[in-house]
Parts: sequence; structure tokens; C-alpha cells
Amino acid sequence: HLLGIDVSTTATKALLIDPAGEVVGVAATEYDFDTPQPLWSEQDPAVWWYATAQSIRTLLKQTGISGADVAAVGLTGQMHGLVLVDQEGHVLRPAILWNDQRTGRQCDEIRERVGKQRLIEITGNDALTGFTAPKILWVREHEPEIYRQAHQILLPKDYIRFRLTGRYATDKAGAAGTLLMDLRRRDWSPEILAALEIDPDLLPPTHEGPQVTGTIQESVAEQLGLQAGTPVVAGGGDQAAQAVGVGAVQEGIVALTLGTSGVVFATANQPYYEPEGRLHAFCHSVPGRWHLMGVMLSAAGSLRWYRDTLAPGTDYDTLLAPAADIPAGSEGLLFLPYLTGERTPHPDPLARGAFVGLTVRHSQPHMTRAVLEGVAFGLRDSFELMKGAGLPPIQQVRVSGGGARSALWRQILADVLDTELVTVNTTEGAAYGAALLAGVGAGVWPDVDAACGAAIQVTGSTTPNPQTVAQYGRYYQAYRDLYPALKATF
Ligand code: XUL
Repeated sequence: HLLGIDVSTTATKALLIDPAGEVVGVAATEYDFDTPQPLWSEQDPAVWWYATAQSIRTLLKQTGISGADVAAVGLTGQMHGLVLVDQEGHVLRPAILWNDQRTGRQCDEIRERVGKQRLIEITGNDALTGFTAPKILWVREHEPEIYRQAHQILLPKDYIRFRLTGRYATDKAGAAGTLLMDLRRRDWSPEILAALEIDPDLLPPTHEGPQVTGTIQESVAEQLGLQAGTPVVAGGGDQAAQAVGVGAVQEGIVALTLGTSGVVFATANQPYYEPEGRLHAFCHSVPGRWHLMGVMLSAAGSLRWYRDTLAPGTDYDTLLAPAADIPAGSEGLLFLPYLTGERTPHPDPLARGAFVGLTVRHSQPHMTRAVLEGVAFGLRDSFELMKGAGLPPIQQVRVSGGGARSALWRQILADVLDTELVTVNTTEGAAYGAALLAGVGAGVWPDVDAACGAAIQVTGSTTPNPQTVAQYGRYYQAYRDLYPALKATF
């Protein structure tokens, strides 16, 4: 059996699969994050460790599988968070998380020190408050006493790796999200570290996703119910592991996750990047591959807001059914999905949502359909940026997340994106991907392609309708004009 562990922002999940890739059991332990000041978001790493141990023990008990039957462990988790530990491995302050927004000034400082174009050329990315590097600068500036004691800089799941194995290590997909990596070399960038005056000794070695980074140490084996010596592979940041978990591991295939946020994740055989840094460009957890990623902040979140506000208590099937009878384009009604600001393609926390083009002819089903279409148009923006970055054409989109349950939404997405949309048999996301990576590390499968090929099957397909594709092409142009036209009013 193979064990995947996902240290997310809201829970740590442990998942066991058998050597055929079937899920045998899942256990999760939930927690919250802290907001000690406006814009701040922090978590105590001890909470992750408690939740990891709790979830593994529960899972083993619940499935009746013994630790001796676990061949390898794979780690994934929330990206970009900053954990600082001292010489003894003790945590020096609460972790600063990916959704923390305190580092606007440090992002400016990074652009000044490195030069924005050079930063994008090396790392593939512009400085964003979410990334790790600006958080390091923030601690150095505001808590110099703590920074002085720092011995290692770790990402959240790599702190758990340290507790599991006693070793400091990270994976290349996660490392790319720090903004300290040379995307082409798939390793830390000496130039960026020098420009930011960060000692390279503070950073752990980077490994490809399926590589073994250590083994379960004697001192924690009993507490977890695992056997000492069980290998722990590098794994990957949650988005890369999620892509592995739906089999989006080859160029031309996109993983589209329709959760509260919407993530467009395209695998690439080369380190493409968007020249203005409007997409994230990171390493994949597949050795020698990369990915481009766009993040829409309110995807299924837009539909939830719409339902809760304008049709409270209605279930989604009842809400969406009449929208299927409305013509494509909702008779001229457009919806902007920027309900919580936006990240891609407009990195603008002040962007706002809108219905535009209302007439007395429009009924509620028009508005429902306009929400589904607006989200699809916003996601198409990421696809367009990927084309602009030189990525070869997308052949297939593998869709997952709550929003993917709607056949109507899937058809709208296929038509707006002009691409085949498929669903797959796996629904456990990043933890499942981490378990597959563990399987490759343990030699169950020769490589990640083989693991995904063996474990993941396509269960359904939605193909674009050429006539609707053409209609949406015109509406998409109108949608694109809205943000620049309305920006001044936000
Ligand atoms: C990725 C990102 C989130 C976090 C939290 O860039 O910010 O996916 O990893 O899950």
C-alpha cells in the first residue's frame, strides 16, 4: 500500500491506495488558520504535526492495514508558506501562509533588488504577496532576532517531512513557489539569493517528486503506527500533486479544478513563462517537466455566492436546470466573476464582480447562465495567456472539483474553451497524486506517466459544439473589454 499525506490550509488528510491505485481509505483532521492582524494569515506547525499523526493512526485503524504494509509515503500540501526552524529544529514563529497579504512592500523591494524582468526571466514569476521570498524579507525586517536564529527555511509539508524523517528536504514543484528558484535549472538561483542576501545554507536540497528524501525515523514510528525505515518521497506542492492525481502529466493536457477558486494547470515539456508574469510558472512533480498555472479566485465560489444571495435554499440542480434552455451568451447578459478580487489575468485585489447588459427581457435563468459563462470566460483568459507564453495547443482538459458535477457547466466550458473536457475516476486530488508519487518512488510503477496510466481512467467526455464555440468567441471579446472599461469604478 501507498500513503499520501496532504497538509492543507484547513485539514491534514491521509489516504491509502493499493498497488492497483484503488483508494482503500481516507482520514482527515481539520483545523483553522489564525488572522492575528488584518491581512495576516498564520498557522502553528505543531497543529499540522498533531493532525498528521492523528490522521495516519485513524486511517490505519479504520482500514485494518498495518504500518508494515505501507511501502512508501508521499507528501503534498499548501504551497508558499514560510516555516523557520532553529539549529535544533524548533519552530521559531508561527508559519506565514500562502494567503497572507502583509508583504506588498517586500514584493516591491524584490522587484527593485532583482529587476522585474530579470526576476521573471529567472524564476518565471513576478513577486506576489503569497510567495515565500517576500515573507522571508518581512521576518528579517520586522523580527531580526528570530531571523538571526533561523537555521532552515521550510515549506509547510517539508516541516512535516522533517518531523517524519529528521531530514531537511523539499520538492522542486514546491520550491518553485518560493520565488527563489531558477526555473530552467530546477534548483535554487544563486543570483536571486545573492540579490536578496539570503544565505543558501538556509534552504534544503530540492528533489524531483518521486525521489526518496528520507525514511520514517525510529523516534516517531510507534506514535504513527508506521514502520521505521519506510521511504518518504519528495511529493509536490498541492497544485502539482493534484494534477498528478487526475493524470494531467503530459504536455497538451490541462487540469482544471472548479472549487471555490478555479485553477488552470497546464503541463509543459519546457520552462515556458508568461512574459509579464501573469501566470505562475513552476516545476511539475513529474521529473523534467514544468507547468503554467492561472488562478481565478471565485469560480464555483461565484455560483455559491449567487445561489446563497439570489436563490437561498435552492439546490444546484434545481437552480441550474432552467439555465440550459437559455441561448448561449444569455441574450447579451455578461457576468464578471471578480467577487473576491482577482489573481489571473488581473492581479488586482480591488477588482469587483458585475452583471452587465441587463434588460427587462432577462429572467433569473439568464442570470444563472451568465454566472456559468462569466466564470468560463475568466478561465479562458488563462488559456489565452498560456498560448501567448508559447505553450503548444491544449488537447484535453481534465476537470474536477464541485463545479465539475454540472453537465451544463461542463458543456459551457467545452464551448468557451473550444476543447474536449473529460472527467476521471479519481476524486481525492492532491493526496491521491502524492500517493502515486510514493508508488513511483517505491518502484510500484516505473515513472509518473505509467502510474497515472495504470490508476486513472477517463469516465466521461464533453466535446465542443462548433456553432456555440463561434458564438462564445464573440461574447468572449465583449467580456474582455469589461475589466479595462470598469477598472476605474472598482
Ligand atoms: C498555489 C496556491 C494554493 C495553495 C493553497 O499557488 O497558492 O493552491 O497552495 O492550497
